[in-house]
Amino acid sequence: MATSFNFLLLLLLLLLAGSTAAFPNFFLSPSFYSYTCPQLQGIVRSTMKEVIRNDTTNIGAGLLRLFFHDCFAGGCDASVLLDDTPEFVGEKTAPPNRNSLRGFEVIDLIKKRVEAACPRTVSCADILALTARDSVALLHGPRWKVWLGRSDSMAVDQNAATFSLPGPGSNLPILLAMFAAKGFSARDMVALSGAHTLGRSHCSLYRDRIHGDSNIDPAFSAALRATCPLSAANATATAPFDRTPERFDNWYFKDLVAFRGLMKSDQALYGGGLVDPLVEIYSEDNEAFGRDFAEAMVKLGNLSPLFGFYREIRLNCRKVNA
Ligand code: HEM
Repeated sequence: MATSFNFLLLLLLLLLAGSTAAFPNFFLSPSFYSYTCPQLQGIVRSTMKEVIRNDTTNIGAGLLRLFFHDCFAGGCDASVLLDDTPEFVGEKTAPPNRNSLRGFEVIDLIKKRVEAACPRTVSCADILALTARDSVALLHGPRWKVWLGRSDSMAVDQNAATFSLPGPGSNLPILLAMFAAKGFSARDMVALSGAHTLGRSHCSLYRDRIHGDSNIDPAFSAALRATCPLSAANATATAPFDRTPERFDNWYFKDLVAFRGLMKSDQALYGGGLVDPLVEIYSEDNEAFGRDFAEAMVKLGNLSPLFGFYREIRLNCRKVNA
């Protein structure tokens, strides 16, 4: 009796381990495809090199964000890649993602090459995880070991995509709470936010801040107001999150300390709040940032559901298998 109780308890713990990032995921392993697809990491790496060499759009930023939005909304199961169908409305068109997420064609290209080498073997969720890692590494950021063995969901959860992701107006207590709910510490949250060292934001998402906030460098807001006026609904103007948007470095944190955070949720990390000391450390120590970011990205990849019937290795990342 006691033995079966202990077994059930262990099973429960393993289940929990799959749903929060704080625990290692016992079902993933860096060598998961060592025998079934040893070419995998080489294919992803060489394709990403090719893509980034020919890229003018900073697509690595888009691919890193794609992984975050997949994992944070119901686990790292590639649900974010599914196109809408007459039967269901997918996560791609949820408000935080619509007309904003990008990089889907790169995932299609990598998946095509991986399928040619190792048919029906590698999940789209694992391809996303490797692509995020290689994007960061190729843009001069840290590298980390990617744990593999995820499978792809056969269902989408637009509600999860709508409500689990933080927004550009989120304040510090909300950010801390949203990340804590998934097992992330304040340190993880701050380090992961440093992903905004890459890429840009649309005017509509930082307009309120540059026209209304007082915790902002006046020269910075004045320069941005020229291309993002309060009156015009200029949704196409964009601005970089930090001054080196194509290089993974700690300028994001240096800019926060100078009150040059682009969105309200960026500046929420600095200026009299609980996590100021972390922002200051990262602003002065690029290596510490890289180390903590890499560690938190592994945890992000642990947000992976373990059980359920609606799981498969998708052949085309945009749709469930027939
Ligand atoms: C902390 C809370 C976060 C909030 C509130 C937030 C919100 C946003 C918003 C509103 C944008 C701009 C989207 C657009 O203009 O279309 C953006 C861009 C971006 N986010 Fe976040 N994000 C957060 C955390 C993260 C994390 C944890 C990562 C990755 C680990 C990430 C990676 C990115 C990247 C790389 C971009 C630029 C994308 C591009 O250029 O295509 N973000 N984020």
